[in-house]
Amino acid sequence: MNEKLINKEKLPEHIAIIMDGNGRWAKQQGKLRVFGHENGAKAVKRVVEGCAELGIKNLTLYAFSTENWKRPKMEVETLMKLLVSSLKKELKTLLQNNIKLNAIGNIETLPKKVQSELLEVMEKTKDNNRMTLTMALSYGGREEIKNAVVELCTKVKNNIISPDIIDESIINNHLYTQNLPDVDLLIRTSGEYRVSNFLLWQIAYAELYFTKTLWPDFTKEHLWEAIINYQNRERRFGKTSEQLN
Ligand code: IPE
Ligand code: IPE
Ligand code: MG
Repeated sequence: MNEKLINKEKLPEHIAIIMDGNGRWAKQQGKLRVFGHENGAKAVKRVVEGCAELGIKNLTLYAFSTENWKRPKMEVETLMKLLVSSLKKELKTLLQNNIKLNAIGNIETLPKKVQSELLEVMEKTKDNNRMTLTMALSYGGREEIKNAVVELCTKVKNNIISPDIIDESIINNHLYTQNLPDVDLLIRTSGEYRVSNFLLWQIAYAELYFTKTLWPDFTKEHLWEAIINYQNRERRFGKTSEQLN
C-alpha cells in the first residue's frame, strides 16, 4: 500500500479506532494476553505518528471500555500500568510531533496514578495544534449519552434552559467529545463486526472499515489502506448520487 495514493485534499477529519485483538495475537504465539497489550502499545505509536504525518486533525483511540472493568483483575491492573508507562514514555513523541492529548470517558474511575499521569501529559501538550489524540478510557457510549441527559435535565429543572431549545448541537455540546467533529472513518481490527459501545452518537454517519488484522500487527500501511478505501467511497448523507455531482 502506497502513501502516495492518498488524496491529501480528501482526508477524514476525524478517525476513530477500536483497537482489538491483542489477546488473540498473544495467544497465537503461546504468550500471555499482557504480551499482546504491550505490542498493542507499539501499534498505537505507529498509528499516532502515521496520522500526524498525513495531516489527520483528530484521532480517537478506544483503549479501555466501561465493560472492560469486568476482565480479570490481573489484566485490568496490567493495562493500567501499561497506560502509565506509555504516557511517561510517549510524552516526548507527542511534544516532538506537536500533538495534543485529550481523554474521554469516566476518567475519575481510573486509578489515581493514571489520572495524574494523564493530567500531566494533557497539560504539557495543551497548546499543540497539529493533531488532537483522544484516548477513550473507561469509556462507554451509553454512559456518555446518559450523562448528557442528566446534565440537560438538571439545567431544565433549575430553569437554566428551556426544553424547547434542546437540539442536536446542544446535545453534542454535552458529550465528552464536545470539541471534536463527528467521526468520518471508524476502523475496527481483529475481524469483529460490532461497535462495542464506542462513540454511538458520533458515528451516526461514519464510514465503517473492518479488517481481520489483529491490532499489534497494524502498521502505517494498514492505516493508509483504510484511508484509501474510505476515499473511494461516496458519502451521500441521505442525498442521491446525482445530487452530489
Ligand atoms: C483489545 O484487545 C484491547 C482492549 C480491549 C483493552 P483485546 O484484549 O480485546 O484482545 P482480544 O479481543 O481478546 O483478542
Ligand atoms: C472493545 O474491545 C474495547 C476496546 C478496544 C478498548 P473488546 O474486546 O472489549 O470488545 P468486545 O467485548 O469483544 O465487543
Ligand atoms: Mg477484544
